[in-house]
Amino acid sequence: MRDGQPKTIFLSDYQAPAFTVSHTELHFELFDKHSLVHARLHFRRADGVSEDTPLQLNGQELELLALAVDGQKVASAHYELSDDFLRIDGLPQSGVLETSARIYPQSNTSLEGLYRSRGLFCTQCEAEGFRKITWFPDRPDVMSTYSVTIDADAGQCPELLSNGNLMHSEELAEGRHRAVWEDPHPKPSYLFALVAGDLQRVEDSFTTVGGRDVRLIILVEEKDLDKCAHAMDSLKRSMRWDEERFGREYDLDVFHIVAVDDFNMGAMENKSLNIFNTSCVLAAPDTTTDLGYQRIESIVAHEYFHNWSGNRVTCRDWFQLSLKEGFTVFRDAEFSADMGSRSLKRVEDAMTMRTLQFAEDAGPMAHPVRPASFIEISNFYTLTVYEKGAEVVRMIQTLLGEEDFRRGSDLYFERHDGQAVTCDDFIAAMEDVSGKDLTDFKRWYSQAGTPELSIRDSWDEEQGIYTLTVSQQTPASLGQSEKSPVVIPLAMGLLGEAGNLRIKLDGEMTDIESEDNTHRILIADKPTQTFRFTELPERPTPALLRGFSAPVRVDYPYSREQLLALVSRDDDDFVRWDAMQQLMVSALQELQENPEAALDPILETAVNAICSQILDPAVQADMLRLPSETYLSELASHAGKADVHGIFRARESLRKSLAKVFRERWASLFEGLRVTEPYAPTGEQIGSRALANVALDYLATADDQGVALARDYYFAADNLTNRLVALRAVLREGSAERGEELLEDFYQRFCGEALAMNHWLLVQAENSVGDSISRVRALMQHPAYDSRNPNKIRSLIGGFANGNAVQFHREDGAGYQLLGEVVEALNAQNPQIASRLLAPLTRWKNYAAGGDLMRAELQRLSELPSLSPDVYEVVNKSLA
Ligand code: PHE
Ligand code: ZN
Repeated sequence: MRDGQPKTIFLSDYQAPAFTVSHTELHFELFDKHSLVHARLHFRRADGVSEDTPLQLNGQELELLALAVDGQKVASAHYELSDDFLRIDGLPQSGVLETSARIYPQSNTSLEGLYRSRGLFCTQCEAEGFRKITWFPDRPDVMSTYSVTIDADAGQCPELLSNGNLMHSEELAEGRHRAVWEDPHPKPSYLFALVAGDLQRVEDSFTTVGGRDVRLIILVEEKDLDKCAHAMDSLKRSMRWDEERFGREYDLDVFHIVAVDDFNMGAMENKSLNIFNTSCVLAAPDTTTDLGYQRIESIVAHEYFHNWSGNRVTCRDWFQLSLKEGFTVFRDAEFSADMGSRSLKRVEDAMTMRTLQFAEDAGPMAHPVRPASFIEISNFYTLTVYEKGAEVVRMIQTLLGEEDFRRGSDLYFERHDGQAVTCDDFIAAMEDVSGKDLTDFKRWYSQAGTPELSIRDSWDEEQGIYTLTVSQQTPASLGQSEKSPVVIPLAMGLLGEAGNLRIKLDGEMTDIESEDNTHRILIADKPTQTFRFTELPERPTPALLRGFSAPVRVDYPYSREQLLALVSRDDDDFVRWDAMQQLMVSALQELQENPEAALDPILETAVNAICSQILDPAVQADMLRLPSETYLSELASHAGKADVHGIFRARESLRKSLAKVFRERWASLFEGLRVTEPYAPTGEQIGSRALANVALDYLATADDQGVALARDYYFAADNLTNRLVALRAVLREGSAERGEELLEDFYQRFCGEALAMNHWLLVQAENSVGDSISRVRALMQHPAYDSRNPNKIRSLIGGFANGNAVQFHREDGAGYQLLGEVVEALNAQNPQIASRLLAPLTRWKNYAAGGDLMRAELQRLSELPSLSPDVYEVVNKSLA
């Protein structure tokens, strides 16, 4: 927090650094009450920079103990120290700047910089946390080699780690010891890491294609030693996959993953010293769901992949964040697709995009994949930068083809190894290898908002010609009222009575006799354009946006019969899943208007069609599940305003009908799919469990017998996935006593397991039966809760605000107040978490009822004294 209003920073103001730092020596003296950081920066004034330009270093919450240049104390006339900076003038062209600072890791609750988590010393520097450790040009385009000396108590901190290679260790006086680490790869300060504490190791090894033997070390608390195998296995598979798919080899002799309990995000890619939230690395059947296992696999891969896409080649400035994040998310998505089911991964990513990213892109914090300005960069670690950014990279691959895309990636890494570059540099490499001009395509980086494709068709029976007219439009967003067309790869097919039809576009010379002649990628890049398909035997149903080929909304007036045809017969799993979603959405909309509406017979036929087909069971499960309340709200707000209570009732009612009508089907699905082997997070088992559990959930909805079945299933479970599905079903459908019984049992079983307790809190936060608000307030006082631990806050408070719409939007505004209070308390304690938690309140414009009360809560927050820049930015942009 600082005086005056936080400032906006603009991409257009970018200037290259006036000074570089080629080498950085750090000496840490870690103590219980404070720590000392001695730094020696080998600086040089950049060419062409005038001699009177001072060296400006970032620094926050640091006590200056000593300041010298080339061994000479700097006179007070030559430096200026403020809350955010240290400015020194009269410097030589190059030299060594020495500083000493005192810091207080044990009282650092922001979890940024050097802090303590359950006694462990650890760091988090991305994006701008290094400045809380020492004075430094804390920007990603200043890259330096590091040598780091750590001194600490040998008993308390047997492990002393930093980036790179261990060069030396020794005993010191008074029970202390020392380790010296050197990282030969120049890196920006945000990739610096230090860990010191009492940890146990799990070790393995990996030999790279080039023959380098790499030690792989996962460090955890002793109690968690048995939960590392899945992460280790994921790491080895990631390393091999990146060699094979992207030609990327690891570049040091050691790679560490450290698990910490208190962590603002999922994990961090610090060079050779990845630091992970325990929830993203530790796995055991009792405390981790199937989704959790998959998440660990993808996050371990993600952080590992950053070693090239992020570390070897990094970002010039934080506006380019998606350069590393979008690309790396794309890479981890491909990895997950290769490890498991490609269709499933695509469906689930599309679901996230449409449910959460589209909402962000239509809300007050909407921003382009490459933002043009920000107040607080921590607010821009978003679904837009990550997931939409990955979709943009995927579209490049679609436009270029896999082969050219790979050549473009190779060129990018080769050209920019060791540099800090921009999204334009990435595109340039893709253009250079393919000879394609991506100028228009680049609008995806600069325009916010989700493009909307409006598609209409006509049919010429006589000539057998089918015409699609495709129009696009991107809604205005803050600061961007006029939008231009973007380049949209629209993958599609044409479905006939007996299956997909051969596609021939008007003007195409002869038949393309590839086996893939039922699939096309149309390029929609104009306000309106038409595509004529010829030589068709019948009027087709268009299968649009196959594989979710672009992050856009599609509006085509499908009849229910057409949707049924797609569900039953299209070749593309995304299209089939999407068609089923649309059928359910339309049934739900009808129920919202007319609660007595009977079950749509077409929907019934579709359910039967899905159940009787041989499909990936996990995709089948996603097809049979009702669209989430969050997705339905997003759709409704896009069309007007959302009525969360109406959505909830309609959804409950459709669930009941489906449960009852298909009672026998659910029962036989459930019986037929029970996994009998011991738990393993294999694709096969995960798929069976997913489908069986959808069936169980419907059975519990159908009648008391189903609830009893769910209760038995809870007690019989040998894994967290089944146990939670059963618990949720009983809480929703059973009596209050039955629910309490299971919650109490769960607590008794797992109260010693922090990660299982996160789920215990989450399930209760999301439970909309009874008075959720009193329950959440009571849980905030429960020993299982910890108001300083981000995982606990996310589970309980985030779970309530994001996953319990009917109670969050209670008419009296008590839900908004609860969230407001927590955000207010967190504003000083942990601004990053505070501003993230705020997101549900910022969507006040989406709701007819309640919108005013939400706005009032935001208004109250905006008037608080000393708002952190994080909260200030979100509150003010959403009130604007
Ligand atoms: N860079 C991390 C990742 O994407 C995320 C992160 C950002 C972690 C900021 C901590 C702080 O993997
Ligand atoms: Zn990342």
